[in-house]
Amino acid sequence: MTKELLSAATEIAKIGGHHTLQYFKQNIEIIEKEDDSPVTIADRETEEIIREEILKRYPDHGIIGEEFGKTNEGSNIQWVLDPIDGTKSFIHGVPFYTTLIGIMIDNEPQVGIIYAPALEELCAAAIGHGATFNGKPCKVRDTEKLEDSTLLVTEILRFKENGQQELFMELMEKTKLHRTWGDAYGHLMVATGRADLMYDPVLNIWDAAALLPVVQEAGGVFSDVKGEETIHSGNGFSTNKKLFPKVKSIFEKHNIQ
Ligand code: IPD
Ligand code: CA
Ligand code: CA
Ligand code: CA
Repeated sequence: MTKELLSAATEIAKIGGHHTLQYFKQNIEIIEKEDDSPVTIADRETEEIIREEILKRYPDHGIIGEEFGKTNEGSNIQWVLDPIDGTKSFIHGVPFYTTLIGIMIDNEPQVGIIYAPALEELCAAAIGHGATFNGKPCKVRDTEKLEDSTLLVTEILRFKENGQQELFMELMEKTKLHRTWGDAYGHLMVATGRADLMYDPVLNIWDAAALLPVVQEAGGVFSDVKGEETIHSGNGFSTNKKLFPKVKSIFEKHNIQ
């Protein structure tokens, strides 16, 4: 079943992600959501298309989407959708936005797709079946020392907003190269061996659901700030198994909740 879901989710993510391209780098209206974050017609249409494709194949499956909420809440199989992760990048013509599909079975993440349509990059994984990058196996790199590692983070102001400036400074001082590389794409960079650590202090379930299977199956760790491998904590970082205890102890030292 998981393999079948992996292949359906890959197909559907491609359909959804492809739809975003017709609006990318176009003059598109920016609508403000209640929480002041931006959304566009591309986010909404893409989620609608993905929902239709899922329900056409699996009418009883549940869906949790960023833009349109929950459908079939009682199902033990839940598709978790973020039609455009990195809407701010999308709006500014930055290609590091992604379409995310995660599938949870009995509340456990089992399948993850991270698709960057503007870059033609797609990472897919199902627990127990490995991770692929554009169809070929991918894995995290095996950097052992923090001082040799590349750190990616989401928007830097997020650290200030969450009282994590000191943590941010320490992470920067202890690692070698630092970049803000946006959203789920940063985790894809870790899963494909192009970065060693990606941290996001604020993650909703639709931001995180696809990440855990991809990073875990690429041989890495997707964890919350307490070191638990879960998508339910509202934050998360990706790294390899050697760096994981070192990063975890930095979070512990700063008592990040
Ligand atoms: C955002 C990204 C970002 C995270 C934010 C999200 P969006 O998603 O996932 O990495 O820090 O909390 O809102 O709105 O661009 O899909
Ligand atoms: Ca959003
Ligand atoms: Ca998101
Ligand atoms: Ca989104």
